[in-house]
Amino acid sequence: MIKVGLIGYGKAGSAVAQVLQADPRFALCWVARRSPCAHGQTLEGSQIPLIGLQGMDFSGWLDAHPVDALVDFSVPESLLDYGPELQRRGMMLVSAISAYTEPQLDYARSLGAHTRIVCSPNITLGINFLIMAAKLLRSIAPFADVEILEQHFKEKTEVSGTARKIAQSLELGSEKITSLRLGGIVGHHEVIFGFPYQTVRLTHDSIRREAFGTGAAFALGELALYDKGFYTFEDLLMKKLREQLAVE
Ligand SMILES: NC(=O)c1ccc[n+]([C@@H]2O[C@H](COP(=O)([O-])OP(=O)(O)OC[C@H]3O[C@@H](n4cnc5c(N)ncnc54)[C@H](OP(=O)(O)O)[C@@H]3O)[C@@H](O)[C@H]2O)c1
Repeated sequence: MIKVGLIGYGKAGSAVAQVLQADPRFALCWVARRSPCAHGQTLEGSQIPLIGLQGMDFSGWLDAHPVDALVDFSVPESLLDYGPELQRRGMMLVSAISAYTEPQLDYARSLGAHTRIVCSPNITLGINFLIMAAKLLRSIAPFADVEILEQHFKEKTEVSGTARKIAQSLELGSEKITSLRLGGIVGHHEVIFGFPYQTVRLTHDSIRREAFGTGAAFALGELALYDKGFYTFEDLLMKKLREQLAVE
């Protein structure tokens, strides 16, 4: 069983904690947030400690509560705080942080010389699968028209980062993205391939934030089988695909 420490207990982190707790491959040993927590505080309905990292001796905490892996759903800066501990202890890292700067990403890559790391700005299995399938279809049918449709709740003002990532991976400009804002849609992404005599639609719908936990759990399970290095979610999926093709 892989012992895990979760960094970040906000909107995403709290949903991810639920998924990790329910997965028999993992033991969620503790959860860390930034704000100080009361001594002995635990996650609601469990014995799992909830700690606040601000002003805390994290290294001492890790000595007393060692884990095999960290899962990060906090903020980009926290990587620099716990990075030396990853390096020293060889803990694995699954980071879902969406907005690392280039220097932060360089640092993450450098940690790959000492341990196993996955950084994934899009961590749902479904979106990563959609991107992989869309890239494959685009390479098979470069002549097809391609458009991206994204739909979200009406309060979301900016174009979806995921839609921009899909466009980038298909080498499409942002003018190929159509955004609709209506009601309470959590997240809908669609890649539409227009062939002369047929249409192919690849669609992903987000239902709940727990999907981030499913992706993190997949990444962690795979990473445990890897050698030291820095990996993307696409690397993990491509390995699965190659294994599948080798069986057939
Ligand atoms: N890759 C993906 O698909 C994906 C999906 C969802 C979210 N994310 C990423 O996950 C992160 C969290 O998103 P969210 O919506 O859950 O945000 P959020 O609700 O604001 O939660 C952020 C959490 O991080 C904690 N935190 C802040 N600074 C910290 C530090 N220096 N050290 C440790 N913990 C710290 C906060 O602590 P307090 O509770 O004490 O404030 C809070 O628990 C973001 O970076 C986002 O990009 C990625």
